[in-house]
Amino acid sequence: MTTATKSETILIVDDEEPIRRPLKRMLTKKGYPCLEADCANQAMLRLDENSVALAILDVRMPVKSGIELLSDIKAGYPDTAVIMATAVIEPEVIIQCMKNGALDYIMKPFEFDKVIRSMEIALRKRQLAMTLKDFQDTLKGKVDEQATEIRRLFLASIQSLVFALESKDKYTAGHSRRVSEFTLIIAHYMGIPPEELEDIRYGALLHDVGKIAIDPDIQNKPGKLTVDEYEHIMTHATVGPAIVKPIANQNIIDIIHYHHCRFDGRSKDQTLTGAQIPLGVRIVTLADSFDAMTSERPYRKGLSLDAALREVIRCTGSQFDPEIVDVFIRIPQREIKAIMALQ
Ligand SMILES: [Fe+2]
Repeated sequence: MTTATKSETILIVDDEEPIRRPLKRMLTKKGYPCLEADCANQAMLRLDENSVALAILDVRMPVKSGIELLSDIKAGYPDTAVIMATAVIEPEVIIQCMKNGALDYIMKPFEFDKVIRSMEIALRKRQLAMTLKDFQDTLKGKVDEQATEIRRLFLASIQSLVFALESKDKYTAGHSRRVSEFTLIIAHYMGIPPEELEDIRYGALLHDVGKIAIDPDIQNKPGKLTVDEYEHIMTHATVGPAIVKPIANQNIIDIIHYHHCRFDGRSKDQTLTGAQIPLGVRIVTLADSFDAMTSERPYRKGLSLDAALREVIRCTGSQFDPEIVDVFIRIPQREIKAIMALQ
Protein backbone atom coordinates (compact mmCIF):
# COMPACT_ATOMS: atom_id res chain seq x y z
CA MET A 1 0.00 0.00 0.00
CA THR A 2 1.18 3.52 -0.76
CA THR A 3 2.05 5.46 2.35
CA ALA A 4 0.03 8.64 2.66
CA THR A 5 1.70 11.99 2.08
CA LYS A 6 2.85 13.12 5.51
CA SER A 7 2.14 16.79 4.85
CA GLU A 8 -1.60 16.08 4.96
CA THR A 9 -3.07 17.79 8.01
CA ILE A 10 -5.07 15.73 10.50
CA LEU A 11 -7.75 17.22 12.76
CA ILE A 12 -8.43 15.37 16.03
CA VAL A 13 -11.84 16.24 17.50
CA ASP A 14 -12.54 14.93 21.01
CA ASP A 15 -13.86 16.65 24.13
CA GLU A 16 -11.36 14.77 26.31
CA GLU A 17 -7.84 16.10 26.32
CA PRO A 18 -6.29 12.86 27.69
CA ILE A 19 -7.53 11.16 24.51
CA ARG A 20 -6.51 13.89 22.06
CA ARG A 21 -3.01 14.55 23.36
CA PRO A 22 -1.43 11.04 23.08
CA LEU A 23 -2.96 10.61 19.62
CA LYS A 24 -1.59 13.96 18.52
CA ARG A 25 1.85 13.10 19.94
CA MET A 26 1.93 9.80 18.09
CA LEU A 27 0.76 11.28 14.76
CA THR A 28 3.17 14.21 15.03
CA LYS A 29 5.99 11.71 15.62
CA LYS A 30 4.92 9.94 12.43
CA GLY A 31 5.22 13.19 10.55
CA TYR A 32 1.57 14.28 10.29
CA PRO A 33 0.81 17.95 11.03
CA CYS A 34 -2.01 17.83 13.62
CA LEU A 35 -4.72 20.19 14.80
CA GLU A 36 -6.97 19.69 17.80
CA ALA A 37 -10.54 20.69 18.63
CA ASP A 38 -12.49 19.96 21.80
CA CYS A 39 -15.95 20.44 20.33
CA ALA A 40 -17.81 20.60 17.02
CA ASN A 41 -17.78 24.41 16.84
CA GLN A 42 -14.04 24.58 17.36
CA ALA A 43 -13.62 21.84 14.73
CA MET A 44 -15.51 23.94 12.17
CA LEU A 45 -13.29 26.94 12.97
CA ARG A 46 -10.17 24.82 12.40
CA LEU A 47 -11.58 23.60 9.09
CA ASP A 48 -12.36 27.13 8.08
CA GLU A 49 -8.81 28.29 8.72
CA ASN A 50 -6.85 25.22 7.52
CA SER A 51 -6.85 22.74 4.70
CA VAL A 52 -7.58 19.50 6.53
CA ALA A 53 -7.13 16.17 4.75
CA LEU A 54 -8.57 13.96 7.46
CA ALA A 55 -10.68 14.50 10.58
CA ILE A 56 -10.96 11.94 13.38
CA LEU A 57 -14.26 12.59 15.18
CA ASP A 58 -15.31 11.40 18.59
CA VAL A 59 -18.87 10.06 18.21
CA ARG A 60 -20.03 11.19 21.65
CA MET A 61 -19.41 14.83 22.49
CA PRO A 62 -21.51 17.30 24.49
CA VAL A 63 -23.59 19.99 22.70
CA LYS A 64 -23.05 18.60 19.20
CA SER A 65 -22.20 14.96 18.56
CA GLY A 66 -19.61 13.65 16.13
CA ILE A 67 -22.49 12.32 14.01
CA GLU A 68 -23.92 15.82 13.54
CA LEU A 69 -20.44 17.25 12.97
CA LEU A 70 -19.84 14.61 10.29
CA SER A 71 -22.85 15.97 8.33
CA ASP A 72 -21.59 19.55 8.69
CA ILE A 73 -18.13 18.57 7.45
CA LYS A 74 -19.48 16.65 4.46
CA ALA A 75 -21.70 19.63 3.56
CA GLY A 76 -19.02 22.30 3.96
CA TYR A 77 -15.74 20.48 3.35
CA PRO A 78 -16.51 17.48 1.12
CA ASP A 79 -12.81 16.93 0.36
CA THR A 80 -11.99 16.25 4.02
CA ALA A 81 -11.96 12.51 4.79
CA VAL A 82 -13.57 11.50 8.10
CA ILE A 83 -12.96 8.59 10.47
CA MET A 84 -15.20 8.13 13.52
CA ALA A 85 -13.78 7.21 16.93
CA THR A 86 -15.93 5.42 19.47
CA ALA A 87 -15.54 3.69 22.82
CA VAL A 88 -18.52 1.38 22.36
CA ILE A 89 -19.49 -0.56 19.25
CA GLU A 90 -23.00 0.55 18.32
CA PRO A 91 -23.69 -1.02 14.93
CA GLU A 92 -26.58 1.31 14.08
CA VAL A 93 -24.52 4.41 14.82
CA ILE A 94 -21.57 3.10 12.83
CA ILE A 95 -23.78 2.22 9.84
CA GLN A 96 -25.35 5.68 9.94
CA CYS A 97 -21.92 7.34 10.01
CA MET A 98 -20.67 5.26 7.07
CA LYS A 99 -23.84 6.15 5.14
CA ASN A 100 -23.22 9.82 5.92
CA GLY A 101 -19.73 9.73 4.42
CA ALA A 102 -17.35 8.44 7.14
CA LEU A 103 -14.71 6.20 5.63
CA ASP A 104 -13.98 4.07 8.71
CA TYR A 105 -14.33 3.87 12.49
CA ILE A 106 -11.70 3.20 15.15
CA MET A 107 -12.07 2.01 18.72
CA LYS A 108 -11.03 3.81 21.88
CA PRO A 109 -8.71 3.37 23.66
CA PHE A 110 -6.63 3.71 20.51
CA GLU A 111 -4.33 1.02 19.22
CA PHE A 112 -1.94 3.23 17.32
CA ASP A 113 -1.05 0.70 14.60
CA LYS A 114 -4.73 0.27 13.78
CA VAL A 115 -5.25 4.04 13.79
CA ILE A 116 -2.39 4.56 11.34
CA ARG A 117 -3.65 1.77 9.05
CA SER A 118 -7.17 3.18 9.03
CA MET A 119 -5.84 6.67 8.35
CA GLU A 120 -3.67 5.57 5.47
CA ILE A 121 -6.57 3.76 3.82
CA ALA A 122 -8.83 6.80 4.31
CA LEU A 123 -6.23 9.20 2.92
CA ARG A 124 -5.64 6.96 -0.08
CA LYS A 125 -9.39 6.76 -0.78
CA ARG A 126 -9.58 10.53 -0.50
CA GLN A 127 -6.71 10.95 -2.93
CA LEU A 128 -8.39 8.61 -5.44
CA ALA A 129 -11.72 10.41 -5.08
CA MET A 130 -10.04 13.78 -5.68
CA THR A 131 -8.14 12.49 -8.71
CA LEU A 132 -11.40 11.10 -10.12
CA LYS A 133 -13.18 14.40 -9.47
CA ASP A 134 -10.37 16.35 -11.18
CA PHE A 135 -10.58 14.02 -14.15
CA GLN A 136 -14.38 14.40 -14.37
CA ASP A 137 -14.09 18.20 -14.10
CA THR A 138 -11.47 18.29 -16.85
CA LEU A 139 -13.58 16.03 -19.04
CA LYS A 140 -16.71 18.10 -18.42
CA GLY A 141 -14.75 21.28 -19.19
CA LYS A 142 -13.61 19.83 -22.51
CA VAL A 143 -17.12 18.65 -23.44
CA ASP A 144 -18.57 22.08 -22.51
CA GLU A 145 -15.84 23.81 -24.51
CA GLN A 146 -16.58 21.72 -27.59
CA ALA A 147 -20.34 22.19 -27.25
CA THR A 148 -19.82 25.97 -27.01
CA GLU A 149 -17.56 25.93 -30.07
CA ILE A 150 -20.06 23.88 -32.11
CA ARG A 151 -22.85 26.26 -31.09
CA ARG A 152 -20.71 29.28 -31.94
CA LEU A 153 -19.82 27.88 -35.36
CA PHE A 154 -23.43 27.02 -36.13
CA LEU A 155 -24.72 30.44 -35.14
CA ALA A 156 -21.86 32.17 -36.97
CA SER A 157 -22.66 30.25 -40.16
CA ILE A 158 -26.33 31.23 -40.01
CA GLN A 159 -25.27 34.78 -39.29
CA SER A 160 -23.05 34.73 -42.40
CA LEU A 161 -26.01 33.52 -44.39
CA VAL A 162 -28.13 36.42 -43.08
CA PHE A 163 -25.37 38.92 -43.92
CA ALA A 164 -25.03 37.43 -47.41
CA LEU A 165 -28.77 37.71 -48.03
CA GLU A 166 -28.88 41.28 -46.72
CA SER A 167 -25.89 42.35 -48.75
CA LYS A 168 -27.70 41.46 -51.99
CA ASP A 169 -30.16 44.23 -51.29
CA LYS A 170 -28.90 47.77 -50.77
CA TYR A 171 -31.94 48.59 -48.66
CA THR A 172 -31.31 45.89 -46.06
CA ALA A 173 -27.50 45.69 -46.21
CA GLY A 174 -26.00 45.75 -42.73
CA HIS A 175 -29.40 45.78 -40.95
CA SER A 176 -28.75 42.83 -38.61
CA ARG A 177 -25.25 44.02 -37.82
CA ARG A 178 -26.52 47.50 -36.91
CA VAL A 179 -29.43 46.09 -34.89
CA SER A 180 -26.90 44.01 -32.98
CA GLU A 181 -24.71 47.05 -32.29
CA PHE A 182 -27.68 49.21 -31.22
CA THR A 183 -28.81 46.37 -28.94
CA LEU A 184 -25.38 46.02 -27.36
CA ILE A 185 -24.97 49.73 -26.75
CA ILE A 186 -28.42 50.00 -25.14
CA ALA A 187 -27.67 46.94 -22.97
CA HIS A 188 -24.34 48.50 -22.01
CA TYR A 189 -25.95 51.79 -20.95
CA MET A 190 -28.63 49.81 -19.07
CA GLY A 191 -25.81 48.29 -17.02
CA ILE A 192 -26.29 44.70 -18.21
CA PRO A 193 -22.98 42.94 -17.51
CA PRO A 194 -20.99 41.86 -20.62
CA GLU A 195 -21.11 38.18 -19.61
CA GLU A 196 -24.92 38.26 -19.94
CA LEU A 197 -24.86 39.75 -23.44
CA GLU A 198 -24.05 36.73 -25.58
CA ASP A 199 -27.65 35.56 -26.07
CA ILE A 200 -28.87 39.11 -26.70
CA ARG A 201 -26.12 39.62 -29.28
CA TYR A 202 -26.95 36.39 -31.14
CA GLY A 203 -30.67 37.11 -30.89
CA ALA A 204 -30.13 40.56 -32.41
CA LEU A 205 -27.89 39.25 -35.19
CA LEU A 206 -30.36 36.52 -36.07
CA HIS A 207 -33.66 38.29 -35.39
CA ASP A 208 -34.60 38.34 -39.09
CA VAL A 209 -33.17 34.90 -39.97
CA GLY A 210 -36.70 33.78 -40.94
CA LYS A 211 -36.58 36.16 -43.92
CA ILE A 212 -34.62 33.43 -45.68
CA ALA A 213 -38.04 31.86 -46.27
CA ILE A 214 -39.75 35.06 -47.49
CA ASP A 215 -40.52 35.65 -51.16
CA PRO A 216 -37.85 38.18 -52.25
CA ASP A 217 -40.27 39.85 -54.67
CA ILE A 218 -42.63 40.66 -51.81
CA GLN A 219 -39.85 41.62 -49.46
CA ASN A 220 -38.34 44.03 -51.97
CA LYS A 221 -41.63 45.33 -53.33
CA PRO A 222 -41.18 49.06 -53.90
CA GLY A 223 -44.79 50.07 -53.19
CA LYS A 224 -47.28 49.57 -50.37
CA LEU A 225 -47.84 45.94 -49.30
CA THR A 226 -51.24 44.27 -49.44
CA VAL A 227 -52.56 42.72 -46.22
CA ASP A 228 -51.65 39.24 -47.48
CA GLU A 229 -48.16 40.35 -48.46
CA TYR A 230 -47.63 41.98 -45.06
CA GLU A 231 -48.79 38.82 -43.30
CA HIS A 232 -46.47 36.74 -45.47
CA ILE A 233 -43.51 38.91 -44.46
CA MET A 234 -44.44 38.71 -40.79
CA THR A 235 -44.20 34.90 -40.90
CA HIS A 236 -40.43 35.40 -40.67
CA ALA A 237 -40.83 35.74 -36.90
CA THR A 238 -42.28 32.24 -36.64
CA VAL A 239 -40.06 30.61 -39.28
CA GLY A 240 -36.86 31.96 -37.67
CA PRO A 241 -37.13 30.05 -34.39
CA ALA A 242 -37.58 26.76 -36.28
CA ILE A 243 -34.36 27.42 -38.22
CA VAL A 244 -32.19 28.00 -35.15
CA LYS A 245 -34.00 25.71 -32.70
CA PRO A 246 -31.58 22.75 -33.01
CA ILE A 247 -28.77 24.78 -31.47
CA ALA A 248 -30.00 28.11 -30.08
CA ASN A 249 -31.25 28.47 -26.51
CA GLN A 250 -34.63 29.85 -25.44
CA ASN A 251 -33.33 33.43 -24.93
CA ILE A 252 -32.22 33.62 -28.57
CA ILE A 253 -35.38 31.93 -29.83
CA ASP A 254 -37.55 34.38 -27.85
CA ILE A 255 -35.79 37.37 -29.42
CA ILE A 256 -36.34 35.98 -32.93
CA HIS A 257 -39.94 35.02 -32.20
CA TYR A 258 -41.14 38.14 -30.41
CA HIS A 259 -39.08 40.96 -31.95
CA HIS A 260 -42.16 42.53 -33.55
CA CYS A 261 -44.11 42.52 -30.26
CA ARG A 262 -45.32 45.87 -28.97
CA PHE A 263 -44.81 46.90 -25.36
CA ASP A 264 -48.57 47.56 -24.99
CA GLY A 265 -49.34 44.07 -26.33
CA ARG A 266 -51.45 45.38 -29.22
CA SER A 267 -49.82 43.56 -32.14
CA LYS A 268 -51.91 40.95 -33.91
CA ASP A 269 -52.02 37.63 -31.96
CA GLN A 270 -49.63 38.98 -29.33
CA THR A 271 -49.77 37.00 -26.10
CA LEU A 272 -47.12 38.78 -24.01
CA THR A 273 -47.27 42.37 -22.86
CA GLY A 274 -45.08 44.87 -20.94
CA ALA A 275 -42.53 43.27 -18.61
CA GLN A 276 -43.76 39.78 -19.60
CA ILE A 277 -41.83 40.32 -22.82
CA PRO A 278 -38.23 39.27 -22.08
CA LEU A 279 -35.87 42.22 -21.61
CA GLY A 280 -33.61 41.13 -24.50
CA VAL A 281 -36.64 41.14 -26.82
CA ARG A 282 -37.70 44.62 -25.73
CA ILE A 283 -34.22 45.97 -26.43
CA VAL A 284 -33.98 44.33 -29.85
CA THR A 285 -37.46 45.61 -30.76
CA LEU A 286 -36.32 49.20 -30.24
CA ALA A 287 -32.97 48.62 -31.98
CA ASP A 288 -34.69 46.96 -34.95
CA SER A 289 -37.33 49.67 -35.34
CA PHE A 290 -34.80 52.48 -34.98
CA ASP A 291 -32.63 50.98 -37.71
CA ALA A 292 -35.69 50.51 -39.94
CA MET A 293 -36.68 54.17 -39.42
CA THR A 294 -33.24 55.53 -40.27
CA SER A 295 -32.66 53.22 -43.25
CA GLU A 296 -33.63 54.12 -46.76
CA ARG A 297 -36.41 52.09 -48.37
CA PRO A 298 -37.32 51.84 -52.08
CA TYR A 299 -40.45 53.89 -51.35
CA ARG A 300 -39.09 56.43 -48.82
CA LYS A 301 -35.99 58.13 -47.49
CA GLY A 302 -34.60 57.18 -44.10
CA LEU A 303 -35.43 59.50 -41.17
CA SER A 304 -32.73 61.76 -39.77
CA LEU A 305 -31.38 60.94 -36.33
CA ASP A 306 -33.42 63.72 -34.70
CA ALA A 307 -36.62 62.75 -36.49
CA ALA A 308 -36.12 59.07 -35.60
CA LEU A 309 -35.51 59.94 -31.94
CA ARG A 310 -38.71 62.00 -31.93
CA GLU A 311 -40.57 59.01 -33.38
CA VAL A 312 -39.10 56.69 -30.75
CA ILE A 313 -40.25 59.09 -28.00
CA ARG A 314 -43.71 59.31 -29.61
CA CYS A 315 -43.99 55.50 -29.44
CA THR A 316 -42.89 55.27 -25.79
CA GLY A 317 -45.19 52.99 -23.85
CA SER A 318 -47.05 51.84 -26.95
CA GLN A 319 -44.44 50.21 -29.15
CA PHE A 320 -41.44 50.55 -26.85
CA ASP A 321 -40.59 50.01 -23.19
CA PRO A 322 -40.32 53.51 -21.60
CA GLU A 323 -37.32 52.49 -19.50
CA ILE A 324 -35.39 51.40 -22.58
CA VAL A 325 -36.37 54.54 -24.50
CA ASP A 326 -35.15 56.62 -21.58
CA VAL A 327 -31.75 54.95 -21.77
CA PHE A 328 -31.60 55.06 -25.57
CA ILE A 329 -32.24 58.79 -25.95
CA ARG A 330 -29.44 59.57 -23.47
CA ILE A 331 -26.77 57.65 -25.40
CA PRO A 332 -24.27 60.14 -26.86
CA GLN A 333 -25.36 60.88 -30.43
CA ARG A 334 -21.89 60.36 -31.87
CA GLU A 335 -22.12 56.71 -30.73
CA ILE A 336 -25.53 56.29 -32.38
CA LYS A 337 -24.27 57.94 -35.58
CA ALA A 338 -21.25 55.61 -35.71
CA ILE A 339 -23.58 52.61 -35.69
CA MET A 340 -25.93 54.19 -38.28
CA ALA A 341 -22.93 54.47 -40.61
CA LEU A 342 -22.17 50.72 -40.47
CA GLN A 343 -22.85 48.77 -43.65
FE1 LIG B 1 -38.15 41.44 -38.38
